[in-house]
Amino acid sequence: MNHLKIFSGNGNRPLAEAIAKSLGRPLGDAAITLFPDGEIFVKINEDVRGQDIFIVQPTCAPQNDNLMELLLFIDAAHRASAQRITAVIPYYGYARQDRKDEGRVPISAKLVANMLQVAGADRVLTVHLHAYQVQGFFDIPVDHLLSEPVFAKYFRGLKIPNLTVVSPDVGNVKTARIYAELLGGDLAIIDKERLSGTEVRAGALIGNAKGRNILLVDDMITSGGTIAKAAALLAEHGALDIHVAATHAVLCGEAIARLKSAPIKSVVVTDTIPLSAEAAKLKMLKRLSLAPLLAEAIKRIHLHKSVSQLFLRKTERKD
Ligand code: R5P
Repeated sequence: MNHLKIFSGNGNRPLAEAIAKSLGRPLGDAAITLFPDGEIFVKINEDVRGQDIFIVQPTCAPQNDNLMELLLFIDAAHRASAQRITAVIPYYGYARQDRKDEGRVPISAKLVANMLQVAGADRVLTVHLHAYQVQGFFDIPVDHLLSEPVFAKYFRGLKIPNLTVVSPDVGNVKTARIYAELLGGDLAIIDKERLSGTEVRAGALIGNAKGRNILLVDDMITSGGTIAKAAALLAEHGALDIHVAATHAVLCGEAIARLKSAPIKSVVVTDTIPLSAEAAKLKMLKRLSLAPLLAEAIKRIHLHKSVSQLFLRKTERKD
């Protein structure tokens, strides 16, 4: 893997370091500084000509700075004659703006995809997109990793009896079904209505929660409204312990307060996004690392091996 180089922006350096460590390589040398007027300057401090470059940068908050850093990083690598550039975006910001559902609004997820391609990205490696169709916004290969194997291993270890996996909205049913299959539980769905960016209404529960231990699964916790309302509804329906698994811990605004006051036993997230100091102190929060999964995917992309094989059981893999 002599031609493989991993670089990091400022979006989530600890994750990039953990990925590099998993691959047994140092992080590439680059400096990101600001001009006096606030413009970002990216300088790659080592030769990348003919190299297979992976730039790790989630476009989480500060979204626009992280996105701009990534675009400039890609441009710098492209102009320095890197042989192939993969944008490793563990959390793809703007993903929820993926359709025009009212007049005079942008499709931001598509615009971001266009910008990454124009900058010179040859591939994208990302994790648990809000809508899997966002892959189609790119005309370059997208490897879309799922966090289910990591979560499933953790929750299997807890040996939770009488488990029901709950999707807090209809959009997430497919993911919840995968968990129910992996963990051997029932499936239930909540009919969620979004009232605003921060407020939701949890309506009907389709399925049974009475006397059941619950695993609520979602792609992200943003303002915490979805999970808090879902947990309250499940508790009203007689649920026992309520656990939450969400890939991306966006945790903005009232999220921490909402999680603390909800009838939730544990919230399990991954390290696609760095945690704020307040979130890191939250006792109910457990964080699983996706670094080994991302590292293995990078290795497979570099070696032109199948990435989808990663999601098969070891005995089913063909390589
Ligand atoms: C929405 O469709 C997503 O899957 C999440 O449920 C949502 O983004 C969570 O947002 P919040 O925490 O603000 O309710």
